Amino acid sequence: MDLIFQKKISLQPYNTFGINVQSKQFIGVKNTEELQYVLLQKKKEKLLIMGGGSNMLLTKDFDGLTLRIESRGIEIIREDKEFATVKVAAGENWHEFVLWCLENDLGGVENLALIPGSVGAAPIQNIGAYGVELKSVFSSCEAVLVSSGETKIFGKAACQFRYRNSIFKNELKGQYVITSVNFLLKKLPHTINISYKGLNEKMEEKNKTIQNIAQAVVDIRREKLPNPEKIGNCGSFFKNPVIPVAQFRALQKRYINIPFYPDSKGKVKVPAAWMIDILGLKGFRNGDAGVHKKQPLVLVNYGNANGNAIKALAEKIQSKVAMKFGINLTTEVNII
Ligand code: EPU
Repeated sequence: MDLIFQKKISLQPYNTFGINVQSKQFIGVKNTEELQYVLLQKKKEKLLIMGGGSNMLLTKDFDGLTLRIESRGIEIIREDKEFATVKVAAGENWHEFVLWCLENDLGGVENLALIPGSVGAAPIQNIGAYGVELKSVFSSCEAVLVSSGETKIFGKAACQFRYRNSIFKNELKGQYVITSVNFLLKKLPHTINISYKGLNEKMEEKNKTIQNIAQAVVDIRREKLPNPEKIGNCGSFFKNPVIPVAQFRALQKRYINIPFYPDSKGKVKVPAAWMIDILGLKGFRNGDAGVHKKQPLVLVNYGNANGNAIKALAEKIQSKVAMKFGINLTTEVNII
């Protein structure tokens, strides 16, 4: 196989935070065979697997092999009157896949329009927005075991999806590379979900089509979230904390207007954006590392911030939130 391993490559173009670190080696793979070949050739190397690079904060040069998944392909592999199963290569861009679904009138991912990143990365953190999570359309995925190159199919239950979490971020962390994902999508008539505050208002006077929903989501995201092509960022930097009801009630006594969403039994999700906002950190900036002006859950790189500057800002936020609210914020972004 004539694959060329590049040496001393800057990862700046490959991560949406736009952090300039070097990788000792770099290779892009276009299919499973190339991936398996590289894994076997480079058994002893440290590996950094990259999809869209939209959920990682790089803090130093990487002394190993960065492997970028660049496979392409979207095809309907099964269908009946109601549903279509669509197989998508891991390297496809998530939003391009959403656009493909809209063109083909297949429903289920319209609320997830404009989420940056690749299709292969989507199951790892069970991406979600505007009341919908990936798990609601996920059917299965194919993955390759890093240590042996063997392929394995994971059904939905095996993935153990939770809020921004799955088995691939826990027990199997770093062990598998996802190579394709199968989605179960709904044909017309579609089942829609526009209950999320904000989306609901935007859709009031519109026809409730999946195309209009996706457009409304795109409009909301463009209003609130920075475009990673202009200002480096990775979307939400922190997860929204899920806390016991008793702890929430105690907070509610101090902050009558604290927003919340009911979560699992006995648990409440509190928006981290609200806490950061209360702390007066919305729009805070230290050099080129900042807290976004419109959505304080998003940390941004205004130009030349390095990974450690963003990390220091994140730690400052975490300690202030812990002091004021007694809550530990965990990061959604992987710090490398
Ligand atoms: N809020 C403030 N001040 C602000 C912004 C928000 O107080 O400046 C409060 C408001 O009460 C608002 C609440 O926070 O109602 C929630 O804000 P928003 O609807 O913007 O959503 P979020 O909880 O901050 C989550 C996801 C986003 C996703 C949106 C919409 C997480 C970690 N983040 O953010 O996902 O787009 O909901 O569904 O769950 C991402 O993961 O990268 C991401 C952007």
